[in-house]
Amino acid sequence: MTGPATTHRDAFGSDPEGVWSAPGRVNLIGEHTDYNDGLVLPIALRQRTRAAVSPRTDDLLRLHSVQAGETVEVDLGTVGPGTPAGWTAYVAGVLWALREDGFAVRGMDVTVDSDVPVGAGLSSSAALECAVGAAASDLFGLDLLGSDEARARLARACVRAENEVAGAATGGMDQSAALLCREGSALLLDCRTGETEHVPFDLAATGHVLLVTDTRASHALNDGQYEKRRRACEAAASELGVGSLREVDAEGLDAALDRLSSDEPRARTRHVVTEIARVSATVSALRAGDLDEVGRLFRASHASLRDDYEVSCDELDVSVEAAEGAGALGARMTGGGFGGSSVALLPEGSVEAARDAVAAAFAARGWEAPRSFAVTAGPAASRDT
Ligand code: GLA
Repeated sequence: MTGPATTHRDAFGSDPEGVWSAPGRVNLIGEHTDYNDGLVLPIALRQRTRAAVSPRTDDLLRLHSVQAGETVEVDLGTVGPGTPAGWTAYVAGVLWALREDGFAVRGMDVTVDSDVPVGAGLSSSAALECAVGAAASDLFGLDLLGSDEARARLARACVRAENEVAGAATGGMDQSAALLCREGSALLLDCRTGETEHVPFDLAATGHVLLVTDTRASHALNDGQYEKRRRACEAAASELGVGSLREVDAEGLDAALDRLSSDEPRARTRHVVTEIARVSATVSALRAGDLDEVGRLFRASHASLRDDYEVSCDELDVSVEAAEGAGALGARMTGGGFGGSSVALLPEGSVEAARDAVAAAFAARGWEAPRSFAVTAGPAASRDT
C-alpha cells in the first residue's frame, strides 16, 4: 500500500485495515438552494480525500493528517456541539453523529491525505467527513454504503457533524454529492424529497471543458455570513407563510415579492426562486446538448448570486468576467461564495486563453495568482483497498 497507508504505519505503528476515499465537488448550478428545499446539480471531482483507518475497541480517536503534519487525539466521550474545534471536528463529528443515530461506533486510528484544495469552496470538509463515514460504515458493520438510501442516511450524519459539531450551518449538497454522484454524470438532487437523477455530463464528447478557478480568496462557511443568508431565507419563508422558499414557484414570484416587507428579503427570495428554475433549465439544456443555453444560465446564476444574494466577491467576479471575455460560454461562482472558486464552460480551444486572461486580470490587480484546472465528473465515496 502507498499514500496514507504508508504514513499510517509510521504514525501508528501498524498497517491500516483499509483505505476509503471521498471526492470534493463542484456544483454546476443551484447555489444556496439546498437549505431552501430546492434543486442542486453537483459533480464529484477526481480530487479526493483518502482515509487509512484501523478500528479500535475503545473510544479513542487518533488522527494524523499528512497535510497538517500533526497527530491529534480525541476522546469520543468529549465530542458534542462545538467540540472539538478545528479540522478534527469533521472526523470526530461523524462518529458522534453516527452514535447519535443509534449505531455502535468505537474509536479509530485515522490517517488523512487529500488532494482536494482546502478553503477553495470545493467541499474538502465534506470529502473528509464522507471518507471517514465510509470507513466507519465498513469497519463497524453499519452497511451505509450498499444502496443510495443507506448512503443518503450516511450523508445526513455527515451533515449533522458539520452543522452541530463543526458549527457550519451548511445544507446537504456537499455530502450528498460525495456519497451519491456517479462517474460521468451530474447529480440532480431534489433537496425537498431526496430524489436523485443522474444527468449525463461528458463535455469532452462535444469538445468542451469545465475549468475551475480557485481564486485563493479566503472562504469560510462558519464565519456568520453563510448562516445569515440561511436565516434570511427562513424569515422570508415565514413572512410568506410557507415552509420553505421552494414553495414559491417562478409564476408566483412577483406576487410573493410584493408581499415581502423590504428589499433585502425580496432580493434573497428572487435569487432562490430563479436559481431553482435555472437548475431545471440547465438539466433540460444538458439533455438537449445545448451548451450555449447552459452558458447563458451560468451567467444569469452568477449575476443573481452577485446582485441579489450578495455572496460573490471581487476575485470571483473578475475570474468570471475574464473567462467570459476569453471565450467562455458562461461562468459563475460555485459553492458558498465569499471567495473560493468559479467554474467556466469553455470550448476546448479557448482553455489556454481563458487561463491566461484570468491570471493576467489577477496580476494586474496585484492579487495572488489563481489556480485553474479542468475537471470531469468522478465517482462517489468508496473503499479503495
Ligand atoms: C456550501 C454549503 C452547501 C451549499 C453551498 C451553496 O457549499 O456547504 O450546503 O449551501 O454552499 O450552494
